[in-house]
Amino acid sequence: MEPRRTAVLISGTGTNLQALIDATSVGIHPARIVLVISNRPGVAGLERAARAGIPTRVIPSRQFESRDAFDAALDQALREAAVDLVCLAGFMRVLTRAFVERWRDRMLNIHPSLLPAFRGLETHARVLEAGLPVTGCTVHFVRPEIDEGPVIVQGVAPVLPGDTVETLGARVLEIEHRCYPRALELVASGRTRVVEERVVVADEHPFERLLLHPSLQGTPR
Ligand code: GRF
Repeated sequence: MEPRRTAVLISGTGTNLQALIDATSVGIHPARIVLVISNRPGVAGLERAARAGIPTRVIPSRQFESRDAFDAALDQALREAAVDLVCLAGFMRVLTRAFVERWRDRMLNIHPSLLPAFRGLETHARVLEAGLPVTGCTVHFVRPEIDEGPVIVQGVAPVLPGDTVETLGARVLEIEHRCYPRALELVASGRTRVVEERVVVADEHPFERLLLHPSLQGTPR
């Protein structure tokens, strides 16, 4: 089977984009990144894509007078590149219902919490505020409601004594970088189906949809 043509949408640094580039550019992978789109010019993620020889487009959201107009431009760019799958990776734009429905079950997002807990922004500050011992990240299919949708993969990271938003964020980011390639692989290989708004994986192995931060390996039970 031909690799699934995948676009990654970014707004910034693009470390998740980098993880996806790294994972899909070695050996045989069911996805190939054919386009990176940023809604902001000059961001580091665009350089990462250029370095990897991946075509980039900047579609500056500020220059569009409506969400519909921006999303129409986005959709056109994706169609021109004959994209099969879309990965949102630090893409800081709310998409219209029409756009989301057009890409239903073909568009993934990563969120830095264990959804459905801590939807929205500033997840790490809120986890620290709540005094929790654990957090993580979620890769899910996108739905019109923000940070909603069938969960594909989750990654777990501990909250450690003395953690700040920065140290916790960095730990969660490490597990994000392993979860996103795993989720894309599951989807691109055609093993996932959405049944009654839940992800079902064909021939699923135990723990295939769950990744642990390395600091949790071998912890006392
Ligand atoms: C990540 O924490 C992601 O979960 C969130 O935005 C951040 C993007 O980081 N949606 P990067 O641009 O991939 O480095």
